[in-house]
Amino acid sequence: MNIKTTTFIFSTLLLSAFLSSSCNAQEKGLKDVAQGKFLIGAAVNVNQVKGKDPKCIELLDKHFNSIVAENCMKSEEIHPQENVYNFTEADEFVNFGKKHNMTIIGHCLVWHSQLAKWFCVDKDGKNVSADVLKKRLKDHITTIVTRYKGQIKGWDVVNEAIESDGSWRNSKFYQILGEEFIPLAFQYAHEADPDAELYYNDYGMSDKGRRDSVVKLVKMLKDRGLRIDGVGMQCHVGLDYPEITEFQKSVDAFKAAGVKIMITEMDMSALPTINRGANVADKVEFEKKLNPYPNGLPEDVSAQWNNRMTEFFNLFFKNADVITRVTAWGVIDSDSWKNNWPMRGRVDYPLWFDRNYEPKPFVKDLINK
Ligand code: G3I
Repeated sequence: MNIKTTTFIFSTLLLSAFLSSSCNAQEKGLKDVAQGKFLIGAAVNVNQVKGKDPKCIELLDKHFNSIVAENCMKSEEIHPQENVYNFTEADEFVNFGKKHNMTIIGHCLVWHSQLAKWFCVDKDGKNVSADVLKKRLKDHITTIVTRYKGQIKGWDVVNEAIESDGSWRNSKFYQILGEEFIPLAFQYAHEADPDAELYYNDYGMSDKGRRDSVVKLVKMLKDRGLRIDGVGMQCHVGLDYPEITEFQKSVDAFKAAGVKIMITEMDMSALPTINRGANVADKVEFEKKLNPYPNGLPEDVSAQWNNRMTEFFNLFFKNADVITRVTAWGVIDSDSWKNNWPMRGRVDYPLWFDRNYEPKPFVKDLINK
């Protein structure tokens, strides 16, 4: 091949590479579509933070402007023994967020699950006294929130303390301190970082019982002069729950209670519903019929999923006056906790990007609107 032809081919290839990369850079991401409405967030895991999934980081940079720690800030990880903190992965998470210009969210200061085994019991495994637990809560929250003061925009201070019927979850926090553990947690967090936003976070927030109790909780905290900026509606949903109208009723109720709303952990199972909650401890035995699509979704189910996800985003945009963040609980489908829950061996398709790092149709529609 003569030099002229080679040069022409090379220059053509170079030009097309330049154009495609610049188009990619110019092509809008989800965060651009939501610009001025709400932040677009994702839960990130330690592998992503350590750079072990570069294609995922490309998606984060292009489509997201907020991140939340999926696991590394939970008490069993960050405070494994009473006098032992492990900040390694939490520090990496915060530094990753700063490096990628993300609004950083801390998750979660007080939760009954993934709870450090020592936290609420004495050396004999018996519940500690109220005074001992208060001290432990204060030490935990103060140490962690102080360390990240000014770097973390907001904290999921208390996670999943209210049951679907509105009763209080019978956690060890509740057994020992009654309803007081929540105002105490918000007080300690605010004292440690007066500028951080503080949230109550839960799933199934469109259930009327939980909705009404969370409204009461917000009022209680406000009546005591305590800071609560928002409630997190986790939004772990399915193809057949919740009713969008019930979700809207909860948005209206929380707005009327005078708090912001964040969609904090969105995923939508594409599989037959086994459990409407998100309590990871709930498990069922494997049944083949409950894992119908191990090798990919049929067209009709994929269309149903994308249409319903569009319905939720229409609701988010309609309520952008009070919804300040929409966060997915993971980046691509294979990241999701929903694979293997509540049944080990399940293959689900709950997130906004597929296992090939491709945006789902509803994302492309939002961007190309
Ligand atoms: O870190 C250990 C590792 O050392 C061990 O080898 C491995 C295998 O046993 O387990 C690892 O811990 C796992 C942890 O995720 C970190 O990967 C736990 O077993 C596993 O149960 C835990 O699952 C997390 C779950 O919370 C626990 O409750 C999911 O990743 C996480 O997505 C999920 O997130 C929660 C939110 O925080 C609160 N809302 C509900 C949501 C779904 O449950």
